[in-house]
Amino acid sequence: VTTLTLANPQATHTSGVALAELLEPNDVVLLTGDLGAGKTTFAKGIAEGLEVAGTVTSPTFNILLAYPGRLTLNHFDLYRLERPADLDDIDYWGVLGSGGVSVVEWGDKFTEALPDDYLLLSFELDDGIQRRVRVDWAGIRGESLAARWVEAIARRSDVRIEEGS
Ligand SMILES: Nc1ncnc2c1ncn2[C@@H]1O[C@H](COP(=O)(O)OP(=O)(O)O)[C@@H](O)[C@H]1O
Ligand SMILES: [Mg+2]
Repeated sequence: VTTLTLANPQATHTSGVALAELLEPNDVVLLTGDLGAGKTTFAKGIAEGLEVAGTVTSPTFNILLAYPGRLTLNHFDLYRLERPADLDDIDYWGVLGSGGVSVVEWGDKFTEALPDDYLLLSFELDDGIQRRVRVDWAGIRGESLAARWVEAIARRSDVRIEEGS
């Protein structure tokens, strides 16, 4: 397991930009963590890296907001959904496979309804003001994205990396 420490909001944002540069059609990035942990900050960095024009806002009340960019950004927030079946109502699986990139806040909410390949970033409020991010994945694509993303941000002075067991 890899855990990152992000020193400030800019580190969170820039790490999102760096991830976006690696993203390809149908990639899925699940974000989890308490309110205020940094999920939307990170998603905004991804949007910038995908060359999305305009402002990306939190999709909490809309569940899904989609933006054109180098690849279409599908920005989900599953916070308000109650059951896995709700995913079918919003055509979750259809959107995930529609050729864009999907970033899903509270994306591990339904453990019985995870995609085959994903990168899962769990944001935690640290003791101090910084944030910690645990890096998990599933599938070959998820593993490759995780490795390449960590490598891409490893040398930044505002990112610290711990490799655990
Ligand atoms: N690495 C960080 N260190 C300190 N503060 C951060 C960090 N990343 C984000 N923040 C700040 O945390 C606050 C909440 O972030 P936000 O992205 O809205 O969280 P979430 O979407 O998880 O609720 C914002 O003020 C943001 O600037
Ligand atoms: Mg948010």
